[in-house]
Amino acid sequence: MSTETQKTTSPRKTHRQSPRKWQQAIREQSPTYSPNPSKHTDAPTVASLFSGIGGLDLGFERAGFKTTFQCEINKFCLTILKKHWPDVPRRTNIKEITSADIPVSDVWAGGFPCQDVSLARMGERAGLKGTRSGLFHDFARLIGEACPRVVLLENVAGLLSSHQGRDFRTVIGTLAEFGYSVGWRVFNSKNFGVPQSRQRVYIVGCHRDIHGPAQILFEAERGEGDAEKGKPNGKTTLSPFKKSIGEDDGDGPVYQTIAYCLYACSARHTGTDWSRTYVPYPKKGQVRRLTPKECEGVMGFPNGWTVPPTGTTTDDDLDSLRYHALGNAVTPPVAEWLAHRIRNYLAERKE
Ligand SMILES: C[S@@+](CC[C@H](N)C(=O)[O-])C[C@H]1O[C@@H](n2cnc3c(N)ncnc32)[C@H](O)[C@@H]1O
Repeated sequence: MSTETQKTTSPRKTHRQSPRKWQQAIREQSPTYSPNPSKHTDAPTVASLFSGIGGLDLGFERAGFKTTFQCEINKFCLTILKKHWPDVPRRTNIKEITSADIPVSDVWAGGFPCQDVSLARMGERAGLKGTRSGLFHDFARLIGEACPRVVLLENVAGLLSSHQGRDFRTVIGTLAEFGYSVGWRVFNSKNFGVPQSRQRVYIVGCHRDIHGPAQILFEAERGEGDAEKGKPNGKTTLSPFKKSIGEDDGDGPVYQTIAYCLYACSARHTGTDWSRTYVPYPKKGQVRRLTPKECEGVMGFPNGWTVPPTGTTTDDDLDSLRYHALGNAVTPPVAEWLAHRIRNYLAERKE
């Protein structure tokens, strides 16, 4: 097998390649996944905060990490975490824990709530003074107490502009005060084999190591870029949002090849509450929203990831709970790419 072929088919062996080269390999991965911590005896470890339905955790485990801890307040998300990680110690409210509750771990990872910095909510943004995004300060308190080797934070790109950048300065400055070198990069999940345009900022802090964040976040070699090449006649190619799968004159549905960004929303149609990707049936003149199962696929989760175990009862409408949790989640393939890079970083430092 040539080196080039190995690069595209075995991403686990060559993690310095660009995100784009992962697309093919990630598509070929098994749609079902079951974490098995027992196989990770010498594995690097990750503690997860604001765990949601475990998008970061799943990505890290696929990269060979062992999950040591989870923290999540939402009842439905807890059910899903318990289903996939039955043996991991778990706490609910980040405000009520100290660093002593978190087992010593190489990495702490968490996407703190985004509602107060998100541009999707029109109007003034409370930023880090808000009750939800302000939970960053609780995350920071714990990081300051324990100083894990590597921290990974995720949020919407709106964090970069909230309060004219002052909120982002607070995030970076707080980590720097604790002795972290910090780097950040905005990734779009569509470049990682996920059929969704989802831009998020990923912030990496390495304790007392100035070179760490750049080594983790940036590739040494130059990639091919994301833009498709223009046509020879100078015409630009069709936007991926306008490309579709399915026949316009067939009985079945027509899907956009890349969905618009999913947001946390309910199953009820309440005006702007709808996700913006629709599935038309042109011949029937009908249109519907994505199903929760399709949203799992559009987020890069295995099928059925957010189906609670049989016998679980919920007070709320199950579809709403699934839409909401999926819209908040991290896409596992992006988490996996980062986790591989962090794993290589930790291994090199060990040597
Ligand atoms: C942006 S989501 C993170 C999603 C997660 N990364 C995933 O892949 O599913 C933020 C999460 O923080 C949780 N959360 C909010 N307040 C919390 C608190 N006080 N303690 C712990 N978790 C909290 C929310 O329920 C939500 O699931």
